[in-house]
Amino acid sequence: MRRTLIAGNWKMNGSFAANRSLLSEIKAGLPVSLQCDVLVCPPAPYFAQCAEMLGGTAVSWGAQDVSVHVHGAYTGEISASMLQDCACKYAIVGHSERRAYHAETNELVAHKAQQLLKHGVLPIVCVGETLEQRESGQTNAVVAAQLNAVLDVLDSLDGLVIAYEPVWAIGTGKTATPEMAQEVHHFLRQQVAVRDAGVAEKVQILYGGSMKPENAKELLAMPDIDGGLIGGAALKSQDFLVIIAAS
Ligand code: G3P
Repeated sequence: MRRTLIAGNWKMNGSFAANRSLLSEIKAGLPVSLQCDVLVCPPAPYFAQCAEMLGGTAVSWGAQDVSVHVHGAYTGEISASMLQDCACKYAIVGHSERRAYHAETNELVAHKAQQLLKHGVLPIVCVGETLEQRESGQTNAVVAAQLNAVLDVLDSLDGLVIAYEPVWAIGTGKTATPEMAQEVHHFLRQQVAVRDAGVAEKVQILYGGSMKPENAKELLAMPDIDGGLIGGAALKSQDFLVIIAAS
């Protein structure tokens, strides 16, 4: 039985004051017997605040990206070992916004995931198609290429987390139907099974793309949806708590 992971991707949002309120409200609203894993991914300047406020709680914190480099003259980049230093449990890689705005290739994303695993940080690898790709029947080909680039470079698939985020559903309020999402999640799990049937059974595959309090329960009820990667709703404590409760 796979454990559900509810992860908030704060993107480039937050402030010390706003984070204090949000994190306090989330901590106060968590059920005593939490039935899922909970993660928040703030911008990097707030890792220390998360450590201060979340240390010793059931809520983990993580990063939204990582450098592919180990260390050195890479101005502005943050290495996997630095994320490890900041006690980041996870890091998102290959988010569609980074693939689009920073020309991140499947190969670059794969090597970022590899760096994370080398430093004990769990990668949440994002895959997803654009509306044009979906409408032209390319969904499976696109997400397979994105995922297999990662599977090709990892020595071990243990610790890998996948997030299916249809680009056309991100921030748009247009959510994939549970059936649409389940179909792609099942396909992604089959891609992993080709490499390692054991890992395929246990790998968590999260859905991202306008998961909200009103649709979370239906999405999370699907057999191959093991959690959510939440954007907008993660910035509102009550919405985030409702999604956690839905799991
Ligand atoms: O990484 C999660 C994010 O892309 C989803 O955003 O606002 O559609 O929940 P949102």
